[in-house]
Amino acid sequence: MPEDLLEKIDKSRLPSHIAIIMDGNGRWAKEKGQDRLYGHFHGVESVRNIVEGCAELGVGYLTLYAFSTENWDRPKNEVDGLMELLVDTIRKEVSMLNKNNIRLHVIGDKEMLPDYARNELQEALEMTSQNTGLNLVMALSYSSRWELVNAVKLIALDVKEGKIDPENIDQNTLQAYLTTSQFPDPELMIRTSGEYRISNFLLYQLAYAELYFTNTRWPDFRKENLYEAIIDFQNRERRFGKTSEQVSPTPVMA
Ligand code: FPP
Repeated sequence: MPEDLLEKIDKSRLPSHIAIIMDGNGRWAKEKGQDRLYGHFHGVESVRNIVEGCAELGVGYLTLYAFSTENWDRPKNEVDGLMELLVDTIRKEVSMLNKNNIRLHVIGDKEMLPDYARNELQEALEMTSQNTGLNLVMALSYSSRWELVNAVKLIALDVKEGKIDPENIDQNTLQAYLTTSQFPDPELMIRTSGEYRISNFLLYQLAYAELYFTNTRWPDFRKENLYEAIIDFQNRERRFGKTSEQVSPTPVMA
């Protein structure tokens, strides 16, 4: 029962940022003898459910990998269908986002998006920009290598213009030039559908994230699956390169 799982979650130790690779839509559809787009269509239901679940719990940031730079190489009908579905869903859900105080963000190479998609997204970003609850980050036409190359280019330009002294470049500098500069690093990364890969997703930002893999296909992923992932996360010891004793010293007996 989802309620039983919900009770096991310690609300004071929620991951501040959850990132999800929503995988398995195509296989889910094929298993049902349907077209891949049918899987993406049903994946939207999971997106709604998980966004709602995160908002109810009070998670600060949720990043969803909705379309990678590499996804542009899929067959044209899938790319067009997926792009329309993404834009259409965002357009339809803006009022739900506002009602639930959810702020939408988009990361990725917006230049590659068709004009209609870019314009619709811009509108949705503006319409939700005053919301102060869950930050919903859509990774669209996103890949980590694109992001890192882009950051290096921007830093090089600022060095050239004398705005940055190369001697002073450190991790904070790079952080500030990433598309995620306004967000904390994800603490929990979930990938559905039984693949054990990161697939060019937030490579820099996931440095200390806990990784959680499940065989559940994305269209079947629901709040109870999210709760299981969070409970698993809360049972892990996060050491950030330190020793177990340093992060949770044994209490001294009186
Ligand atoms: C991966 O499954 C999924 C995608 C490439 C698209 C994800 C998009 C959605 C769930 C629609 C979301 C809508 C919004 C508003 C975010 P796959 O096609 O790679 O599956 P496969 O590995 O089984 O082929």
